[in-house]
Amino acid sequence: MPAIEQLGAATRTSSLWSPDKVTVIFVLGGPGAGKGTQCAKLVTDYGFKHLSAGDLLREEQDRPGSEFGEMIKEYIREGTIVPMEVTIQLLENAMKAAMDKENKTMFLIDGFPRKLDQAHAFERSVVPSKFTLFFDCPEDVMQERLLERGKTSGRADDNVESIKKRFKTFVETSMPVVDEFESQDKVVKVMATRSPDEVYEDTKKGLKERGIEPITLKFVKTNA
Ligand code: ADP
Ligand code: C5P
Ligand code: MG
Repeated sequence: MPAIEQLGAATRTSSLWSPDKVTVIFVLGGPGAGKGTQCAKLVTDYGFKHLSAGDLLREEQDRPGSEFGEMIKEYIREGTIVPMEVTIQLLENAMKAAMDKENKTMFLIDGFPRKLDQAHAFERSVVPSKFTLFFDCPEDVMQERLLERGKTSGRADDNVESIKKRFKTFVETSMPVVDEFESQDKVVKVMATRSPDEVYEDTKKGLKERGIEPITLKFVKTNA
């Protein structure tokens, strides 16, 4: 089945799901801030479904027969933002699959929305977010992390030239999204410069303040 059958998601005039039933936390931060690293930790402790918009785009890019493959490749290499219709449809499809197959209702949407139009369209036509987890990190730290990641990631954009373009896009296009959510008191900001475990401690604190707690596993003693 193609990943994108029709690009209808972004044009719907009412939301597909209610925020009472489906919880979406957007995860934002510059390239290399540690979004994916922190999301992996949150999945283990909170049972979220983690969906990275970048991963979904790379998957679609590599899907044989995709009519969007070449376009996505170009955008990723240039560090610019793929038109929202494609990304929103990929996210909606992945959310539906996780609901149907894994009974998931709590989502970390990582690396999205990276542009104001994406934020507005997703909240209008898919589901309004609960809040945004924002990892704040200076560019020199992010650059060092990305170059280190680039030694093994195989990514076409973990190189100095693409990184520069991605930083520019982040400042000019993606930060306005964070600023808008901030003005609605919908941002949990975490400093992302310390070690992954230290950043995670602050992340957990931030989620707790918004009423999100880890899953507590209950062990029932048996006589066996
Ligand atoms: P993002 O998803 O925001 O682009 P990643 O989670 O992929 O970032 O992290 C980028 C790189 O930096 C990875 O190689 C990761 O292992 C490393 N990294 C992530 N968080 C930290 C941290 N707090 N300190 C040092 N390195 C980190
Ligand atoms: O989040 P990640 O670093 O994996 O994203 C890689 C690239 O994918 C971005 O630089 C951008 O070109 C593209 N992307 C996008 N729209 C998103 C997320 C990622 O165009 N919402
Ligand atoms: Mg990532």
